[in-house]
Amino acid sequence: MNLAVVGAQWGDEGKGKLIDILSEAVDITVRYQGGNNAGHTVIVGDKEYIFHLIPSAILRPSKICVIGNGVVIDPKALLEEVDELKKRGLPMGHQQLKISANAHVVMPYHKVMDQLRESKRSNKIGTTGRGIGPCYSDKVGRMGIRIIDLLNPQVLKAKLSDNLNEKNDIFVKVYGLRDYDFGSIYKEYLAYGRRLRPYICDTALFLNDAIKRKKKILFEGAQGTFLDIDFGTYPYVTSSNSTMGGVCAGTGVPPMGIGKVVAAVKAYTTRVGEGPFPTEFEPKMDDLIRSKGHEFGATTGRPRRCGWFDSVLVRYAVTINGASELAIMKLDVLDDLKEIKIATAYKYKGKTYKDYPHDLEVLAKAQPVYEAHPGWQKSTRGIRRYAKLPQNARRYLERLEGLLNVRIKYISVGSKRDEIIVRS
Ligand code: GDP
Ligand code: IMO
Ligand code: MG
Repeated sequence: MNLAVVGAQWGDEGKGKLIDILSEAVDITVRYQGGNNAGHTVIVGDKEYIFHLIPSAILRPSKICVIGNGVVIDPKALLEEVDELKKRGLPMGHQQLKISANAHVVMPYHKVMDQLRESKRSNKIGTTGRGIGPCYSDKVGRMGIRIIDLLNPQVLKAKLSDNLNEKNDIFVKVYGLRDYDFGSIYKEYLAYGRRLRPYICDTALFLNDAIKRKKKILFEGAQGTFLDIDFGTYPYVTSSNSTMGGVCAGTGVPPMGIGKVVAAVKAYTTRVGEGPFPTEFEPKMDDLIRSKGHEFGATTGRPRRCGWFDSVLVRYAVTINGASELAIMKLDVLDDLKEIKIATAYKYKGKTYKDYPHDLEVLAKAQPVYEAHPGWQKSTRGIRRYAKLPQNARRYLERLEGLLNVRIKYISVGSKRDEIIVRS
């Protein structure tokens, strides 16, 4: 059966590590949305890899990785990732990597616009500055440049001219900046097209044909449910559907091709960037968990905000993603704690919220209702069987299962590939 991995919090749940493990049992791994705002860290042996656009399954040369049409691609960043992986000994041919002809291209003006928009806002989003929002805006506004356009000089010329006509007015008249030179961008992006050509194809046809041939597919989500443009803490979100709805639109695989959904969560919660975070720690605990969990963004290096596990949030994520299995990542980070809390509801102005509220005011000001659990105060890093986990760790996990009404299949107890418990 095909399967999908989706983040059920605010990203950085450890999806990269999980994909690396699960990709062993599939033929093809496909990214369906987002861009190089994502940062997925995988540790194999003594080697660390950070992926931004390419699925971490690329570490297995006999497997195929696909970047679907729903992804926005910064060709410079993609080629840097390809070159870096080549340098590290991976083959990186078109047998290993396929790129959708329909994916949209992040242009230089998108990155500048991303940063300018942030600088003008009083309620900043804290974007990664990678041009993701403006690129998706152009896609929906029918101004976008697609990967296939980089292969056709005439089409690229017409589209880029139209874009610069509009964008240069904005940069010069609104922001008082210099205009963009058509010639240099045109030349640069045609050159990217020449380098990317071997990888480009109709990935929707490729995937559907693979399904017909009974090949197994793993769908890789970037970001997380509460960064989803529709279901997240809008406007403090990214610009794509990171939830399961994004899979069909972002790959061309119909719903029955998705199979099983695994929701990835940390044993606690983190968020990078601005926006409401009901279970956020006070500064001392925040520092403690950040240093234990090395909670710094893999893309921007920003410190991640940390907090207790929020079952209100994750229950909502399980529902809208149709998750039938849960992967609890970074359990080891809680190893030393005396007491561990779980939020089971929120309270605001005398009202109790058991379901995730979409009102920003409630999310920003509500008090979480916590239940406290005794910690296990033992290292879990060397444990590979569920029964061997300390009793209090099992109680914590089983309480999460009860609150979320979904089975925990994977428990990650360290950053390395083998530091995982798979429940039968
Ligand atoms: P992603 O964006 O969901 O792929 O997650 P990131 O890679 O951005 O962040 C997760 C971080 O936690 C990475 O640095 C991983 O190496 C690390 N990690 C993953 N699983 C575990 C775990 O079980 N324990 C610990 N201590 N670290 C982990
Ligand atoms: P992975 O795949 C965590 C956050 C940014 C910001 C908001 C919007 O590694 O889990 P954007 O640049 O997308 O317009 O920024 O989304 N963000 C992430 N946070 N993990 C990510 O990806 C993220 N990608 C974007 O910090 O708050
Ligand atoms: Mg990440």
